[in-house]
Amino acid sequence: MDEQHLLHEVEGNVAIIRINRPKVLNALSLPLMADLATLMEQYDADDNIHVILLSGSQRAWAAGADIGDMATASSDEMRKRDQFAIWEQIKNISKPIVAAVSGFALGGGCELMMHCDIIIASENALFGQPEINLGIIPGAGGTQRFTRAVGKATAMDVVLSGRFLSAKEALDFGLISRIVPKEHWFESALHVARLVATKGPIALRAAKASVLNAEELPLSDSLAKERALFYELFDTNDQTEGMTAFAEKRRPNFTGT
Ligand code: CAA
Repeated sequence: MDEQHLLHEVEGNVAIIRINRPKVLNALSLPLMADLATLMEQYDADDNIHVILLSGSQRAWAAGADIGDMATASSDEMRKRDQFAIWEQIKNISKPIVAAVSGFALGGGCELMMHCDIIIASENALFGQPEINLGIIPGAGGTQRFTRAVGKATAMDVVLSGRFLSAKEALDFGLISRIVPKEHWFESALHVARLVATKGPIALRAAKASVLNAEELPLSDSLAKERALFYELFDTNDQTEGMTAFAEKRRPNFTGT
């Protein structure tokens, strides 16, 4: 794995991954995406990790797929390349992913952000799906997840015009979770990741899966799955510990069992 375009470290139960291609505003090259998916899968399989924090730099979360990778490709080459298979791996990460977003979150960058679960954005962040300016459309959910998040009227406005949304617009439209002051964008997201990491890992995975079911399934199916997960959690030590700790007026010590 090329360690340069991704920096990563573990802090307690949080895995911190930083996209690191400053010269091209963190453009998501094919090797970077492959390594990101592999790294996330490794942390997903690591019992010590409860939450993944994914970050860019202050100037750019990611300004999209790397245009240089695609500029001369034909449709046949693009189909054979099947670059979006990698995105399925990221979609299947079972642990919560917190996004620390500052600067540009555009195109594939915005799509990657929408694969995360809690999106903490700096007040200076800018969001968009400007693929229309390149003569293409988004290919990793930018017309689908984006539309589900912000609604058709805003999605058409953004996808057809290529215009950027401010952080305030993105919050108002439901694209992001919170806006934080630009001086504290990373620390604020880390704070959220640390807090989530104190919860029971089994319940965290169940909660993530259940909320995502709301986007994918008809309501009666997702309600049935929610109920099944709810009952399953009563077989865990974490449920016993959580409720015992409540009765004893102390913090729970979840073990992920
Ligand atoms: N791919 C490759 N290189 C990129 C890039 C990208 N997506 N975005 C920026 N860069 C490079 C620029 O080419 C430039 O490199 P040089 O210094 O070698 O010229 C460097 O990053 C800095 O960029 P700018 O000089 O353009 O910086 P700026 O502040 O003037 O503008 C910007 C910033 C508005 C983000 C502008 O760079 C831009 O419009 N970038 C492209 C955004 C875009 O179209 N994203 C969608 C990509 S397609 C996609 O993502 C498809 C998909 O769904 C998977």
